[in-house]
Amino acid sequence: MPEEFGDWDPEIFEKHGREVISQIRGHFEKIRDVPVAVPRDPAELKSAVAADPPETGELFERVLADTWEKVVPGLVQWNHPSFHAYFPTSASLPGVLAETLTAALNVNSMLWQTSPAATALELVVLRWLAAMAGYPQDADGLLVTGASLANLYALAAARDHALDFDVRERGTGGPGAPTLRIYTSDQAHSSVDKAAITLGTGLANVVRVPSDEQYRMRPDLLDEAIRRDLAAGFRPLAVVATVGTTAVGAADPLERVAEVCAGHGVWLHVDAAYGGLYRLAPSLASTLEDLSVGDSVVVNPQKTLFVPLDSTALFCRRPGALARTFRLVPEYLTSAHDGDTTDLMDLSPQLGRGFRALKVWWVIRTFGRAGLAARLDASVALARRLRERVDRHPDWTCPAPSAYPLVCLRYTPEAVTADPRLSEGRKREITDALNARILRRVNASGTAFLSHAVLRDGYVLRLSIGNIRTVGEDVERVWRELDRIAAAELAEPTGTTAWTDPA
Ligand SMILES: Cc1ncc(COP(=O)(O)O)c(C=O)c1O
Repeated sequence: MPEEFGDWDPEIFEKHGREVISQIRGHFEKIRDVPVAVPRDPAELKSAVAADPPETGELFERVLADTWEKVVPGLVQWNHPSFHAYFPTSASLPGVLAETLTAALNVNSMLWQTSPAATALELVVLRWLAAMAGYPQDADGLLVTGASLANLYALAAARDHALDFDVRERGTGGPGAPTLRIYTSDQAHSSVDKAAITLGTGLANVVRVPSDEQYRMRPDLLDEAIRRDLAAGFRPLAVVATVGTTAVGAADPLERVAEVCAGHGVWLHVDAAYGGLYRLAPSLASTLEDLSVGDSVVVNPQKTLFVPLDSTALFCRRPGALARTFRLVPEYLTSAHDGDTTDLMDLSPQLGRGFRALKVWWVIRTFGRAGLAARLDASVALARRLRERVDRHPDWTCPAPSAYPLVCLRYTPEAVTADPRLSEGRKREITDALNARILRRVNASGTAFLSHAVLRDGYVLRLSIGNIRTVGEDVERVWRELDRIAAAELAEPTGTTAWTDPA
């Protein structure tokens, strides 16, 4: 066949495929030896890979070599055992292989008839995930691209439920249309705000209910806010509770929030993107509240179950609610329904959908429920040990508790906190700058990658544990490095941490 036509010969594919797999193996075998991240000049990075598209095909060996030489070193290694930023979305190796097969099959699970087994498998893994999260297994559900979109879709269904006219036909405005309000805590993820922007509800109508001293939504203040709004003529669209907040890993008191929602007939959406699947961990199972109080719930296997990006499950136990909002079938997508079939395109705005279920299925089957539980438990134990170390250190604190393996750390050296020349405000300012500087330095060192949050106590380093490869020694090394950098920064303050300068 002339070179200009057709695909690779399968033999060539296998040859290169073996090479790629072998390089992936090498990558994982050496992953502890490479920096988690290396700060690079953006212009240099862009120019390293910027070239005109080649007119004629290049040797794959060259493409592969460029990938490892020019691209991979400029990535942040999310699979590195010392990646502790945000929430670790580490990919397990069965998940990596599943992605390859998924690409090879390249099926689109928009309709039952476009890929029956893909839809059937998605329904199976959804049932499994629902059971793991403690949500009704017969709830409607689907796999979506991330928790932000899951929150948006759930709130779209909640909006249509809240309005007593045909929103699909008429839109949300018009004479007599009430102003809708979404209630969530001051700790909720920004995707709730983005959903309000997208749905046309408006940021002004996202009511941020204050959280308590442990960063959990205050149900009494939620109740007050809803009552006040009802009296003023607003219409509650939904309450969004969070199980595993982004900044500190707090869990809103679901049962009491659900009581408030039930009292006002308001939809409760539970964003359990981070915390939901930790129900599997035996050490946490009894402390986590029942997710089934949520009318809709999101859990994120990509965050906690070692399934590669992207894979998020949205569930809704109000039968047909997602379909009432999203089902729209143009002629070309009509199909015969023989037997009990489901067209997953009916449950979200997305039409073409990849075969995400395969990787979830492979990962769960490969490790088993108990294997996953043990891995989650191991992360919880590592975080507990780290917290104990931090609590014993006179110059570090953990300003926020969390049941989950997310440790918020703040360097609060006595040299600053006990300096009589400094006002309280100045102490905080200096400590904030010191912690920000520690974060920059540790991330720049390549030994670990952390993120930050700003809490009531001030700026904290967030060290989130949950990577499938992280072991005790890794956490110990990061902790020692943080303490070393902090002491160095205190001894030789740089930039804004020139703390000896009294106010
Ligand atoms: C509580 C919570 N909800 C939603 C999201 C959004 O997740 P995604 O990146 O899957 O859209 C995050 C992200 O960290 C989160 O922490």
